[in-house]
Parts: sequence; C-alpha cells; structure tokens
Amino acid sequence: MDKAGLSADESCQDGRTAKTGAPVGWEPMGTALVTYSKGDFDATLSVIREDGDVARFAAKFFFRDYWALDEIERSALDMCSGRVLELGAGVGGSALYLQRKGLEVVALDCSPDCVALMKKRGVIRAVVGDAFRYEERGFDTVLSLMNGAGLFGTMAAFEDYLSRLDALLNPGGKFIFDSYDLRKVADPRERAYQAYLTGQGRYFGEYLTRLEFSGRCGEPYRTLHLDPDTLLAAVAGHGLVCRCYPRDYCGRYLAVVSRKETP
Ligand SMILES: C[S@@+](CC[C@H](N)C(=O)[O-])C[C@H]1O[C@@H](n2cnc3c(N)ncnc32)[C@H](O)[C@@H]1O
Repeated sequence: MDKAGLSADESCQDGRTAKTGAPVGWEPMGTALVTYSKGDFDATLSVIREDGDVARFAAKFFFRDYWALDEIERSALDMCSGRVLELGAGVGGSALYLQRKGLEVVALDCSPDCVALMKKRGVIRAVVGDAFRYEERGFDTVLSLMNGAGLFGTMAAFEDYLSRLDALLNPGGKFIFDSYDLRKVADPRERAYQAYLTGQGRYFGEYLTRLEFSGRCGEPYRTLHLDPDTLLAAVAGHGLVCRCYPRDYCGRYLAVVSRKETP
C-alpha cells in the first residue's frame, strides 16, 4: 500500500506521538482554517490516505452554521442538553449554536489555531486540549461531529474512551457522535483499501491518513470509521446502550450512547 509515503512508524502511533501521547497530524487543518479566516476563501485542505486516495475539503465547510448543517448534525445538536463537552470542536459552529440556546459548552480542540478562532468567534469556553486526557467531569452531553468517531483513531482508543464515560457524564448523560458504516460504500477503491486493512489484522474502519495544506503535510494519523454493529458490541461490553439513527446513502449515521437505565 503506502503509495502516499505514509507509515505508522514509532514516531506516530495511531495518531499520537510516541513520546507524549499527544494527538498529531492536525496542524495543516488549523493553518487552512486560519488562512480562510484571513480572506483566502478558496483555501482547501487535502486528506491523503495511505493508498494514495486524496479527498479535498474547502476550509469554508468548517465555518458552516446551523442552517448549513445536514440533518444528522442538526439532530445531534437538537439532542444536546445541560452542560456540553464538545470534542474536536473545530472553529466552534456547533458550540456557538448551543451557547445561543443557553447551554453551557466546553469546546475542546487539540489545535491552538482552532481554539484561537473559536475565541475570536465568541465561544465562551474554548479550550486547547486532548479529548483523551481532559479530566473535567459533570457533563450531561459529550458531543463529537463530522465523523466524530474519527478523532479516536482506533477501536482500542474508542473503547478506552467508553470506559471513561461513566466518570465524565452526569446521571442521564449521553455521548452523541456521527460516523460511517463503510460496509455501505460500494466504491471498489474503498473496498480494496478496507480489504487491505483487514488483511493486516486491523479493523477495516481504521484509515491511515495525513493532512496537507499549501504544500505542507502533517504527520500520519489514524482516523476511525465505526460501523454500527461493531459500535453496539463495544458499548455492550462496557455496560452501556446505544441508539443509531438512520444511515444516509453512504452509510453515515448518528449514535447516542448512554448508561443502561436501572429498573
Ligand atoms: C474533522 S474536524 C471536525 C471539526 C468540527 N467538529 C466540525 O464539525 O466542523 C476534527 C477536529 O478534531 C480535532 N481533534 C483531533 N484529535 C483531537 C483530540 N485528541 N482532542 C481534541 N481535539 C482533537 C482537530 O483539531 C479538528 O479540529
């Protein structure tokens, strides 16, 4: 594979630096978003996968407001309640909407550029931090959007986060995120890449990618696409329950994880 010069060597283990465990690879996104905010409205970010596939995202997309969100994202925001912790909050579009509704939001992002933009845009509590290490508790909702499972990188990291949910969430609290059922994607190139990952003994949703903006590449990192069956098995193993809301044509869906209600 490795047509894109990508390998998960010891300097990058599943999206985290081997030394500090901090997330890696997101700097080009921060740079692209700052560039857009300074007036380069054509700024475009590339996501390069290890098999050479390239997806391009207009930086403008990250600045979408509630009305430009799709149905899945709008439903996710409508389900938020109480104190909200948003993981990978980007430039804060969701956080601003929830704040305006009167909810208290901690908008967490590992990118200092994103957090600076959130503050500039009026997010009251925008925090630079790593979702895996953020210790504050007492949330009614944990939210993660735009393939919100993606920032976990691997099934192992996702399961680790599930084991921390009990401490993070208040009684009745929920963890809301979107992801993709890649089994619904018919594109032969995607299928071939998934088969390659399975052949490597990895879960087929753990893509190895890196970001590129304006000729500068970030470190490789893994991004997780979690199918609902694997998700349901994982949450059950942690004594949690999960509802998955309808998948769109490409298998995208919304997940709401919560504690099992005691009778
Ligand atoms: C795909 S973007 C989504 C941004 C935003 N949620 C949206 O819908 O526009 C993922 C975001 O997660 C952030 N991120 C990635 N890993 C993270 C981590 N471990 N902790 C906190 N933020 C992280 C990145 O900096 C990036 O802003």
